[in-house]
Amino acid sequence: AYVVTEACIKCKYTDCVEVCPVDCFHEGPNFLVIDPNECIDCTLCVAECPAEAIFAEDDVAADQQEFIALNAELAQRWPVIVEKKPPLPEHETWLKERDKRRYLEK
Ligand code: SF4
Ligand code: F3S
Repeated sequence: AYVVTEACIKCKYTDCVEVCPVDCFHEGPNFLVIDPNECIDCTLCVAECPAEAIFAEDDVAADQQEFIALNAELAQRWPVIVEKKPPLPEHETWLKERDKRRYLEK
């Protein structure tokens, strides 16, 4: 499955949801996750993300490994999102920030 990683936090551009053929994105307050049980590995979402937050599970960086379990866990709790919406208000500032996981709202 594909995995949303730290770079999405506090940006949440949502371009990714529009291309997903199986509607497997789920939305939280300031982050999106992919349901690994639904993702069909089509790769379409990867190029859509302005934050370059989405990776194949096998390509997730060493310091992002916790996001594999977080996507699986939070996808069970958060609602599906299928339509793009405006990004979060300070997305430009947060796009440049690399250390954001402490701000993840669950
Ligand atoms: Fe959806 Fe394809 Fe991205 Fe998986 S890889 S989340 S199926 S767009
Ligand atoms: Fe997040 Fe990128 Fe989608 S910032 S909401 S994974 S387009």
